[in-house]
Amino acid sequence: MVSVQLQGRTVVVTGAGQGQGAAEARLLVEAGARVVAADLGGAMPGELAAAIAAASAPGESAPGELVYRQLDVTDEAGWERLAEWIRSQGWTVDGLVNNAGITQRSRLLDVSIADLQKVYDVNVAGALLGIQVLSPLMGSGASIVNVGSVAGLTAHYPVAYTASKWALRGLSQVAAMELGPRGIRVNTVHPGFIGTPMTAGATPQFREATLAETPLGRTGSTEEVAGVVLFLLSPLSSYVTGAEIPVDGGQSGHGGAKSVSDALRDAPFREVSAVP
Ligand code: NAI
Repeated sequence: MVSVQLQGRTVVVTGAGQGQGAAEARLLVEAGARVVAADLGGAMPGELAAAIAAASAPGESAPGELVYRQLDVTDEAGWERLAEWIRSQGWTVDGLVNNAGITQRSRLLDVSIADLQKVYDVNVAGALLGIQVLSPLMGSGASIVNVGSVAGLTAHYPVAYTASKWALRGLSQVAAMELGPRGIRVNTVHPGFIGTPMTAGATPQFREATLAETPLGRTGSTEEVAGVVLFLLSPLSSYVTGAEIPVDGGQSGHGGAKSVSDALRDAPFREVSAVP
């Protein structure tokens, strides 16, 4: 039987307090990793604490371990403090998940430069700082996973968020190229509509329209994203770098053809020659 094991590996997960980050932290602990879980709050957020408690079978300790550290990913000095603390523990960094992200839903003609800047600071600069500050602690075999979005593969309407996720793709590809010679891999996952606190307030219209574009016809779970992140952090993906993996139920793959397919599904078939 093959199982994905990360024993002896240290992985930093940003935005780990809730949602996808908490699920990633839990799965990594279950795989035996030492997880440095970081988020904005001074104390470990309740959702993360619950996720980690669930990583242990009753009466047994978890296969891996988790330590929580406060980190605002936009704060370069904060990243430096985190790196210094990891060094002081005598650890190297084997994995980094740049998961922290914020959304901003203004449309094209309403968005302000301040909105754009705020989203870029977290979604783009935050990931860049993580790579700049932690990659010196990485050796060959380390793996970085950036969390993009189906918005970064499409013309998703919230323009600041969409532009930030397209920018993150560029950053990821440059990092894969620059760090490849050191044996450090960099890949991106693009979640679609995942049930988390970020999407909890989605309107029924958004939910319905998004699911209509999603061939699997349902939202994804945080565990379904975490599984792909675990694969990309593990040696099973040792020749994969510069890759982008949508975890979106097929939403981005059809490029807009689904509504056409759905509209014609029950229409009578006509030979191509008969089409005007
Ligand atoms: P969430 O809002 O539930 O959790 C995000 C976490 O990031 C929170 O714990 C928050 O405190 C933390 N965070 C925000 N700003 C931070 C900062 N400056 N420094 C450190 N931590 C910070 O979001 P969710 O849904 O779990 O999203 C995780 C990632 O997945 C984000 O990058 C998001 O853009 C992306 N994503 C989410 C989708 C979804 O449907 N939920 C779809 C596509 C992408």
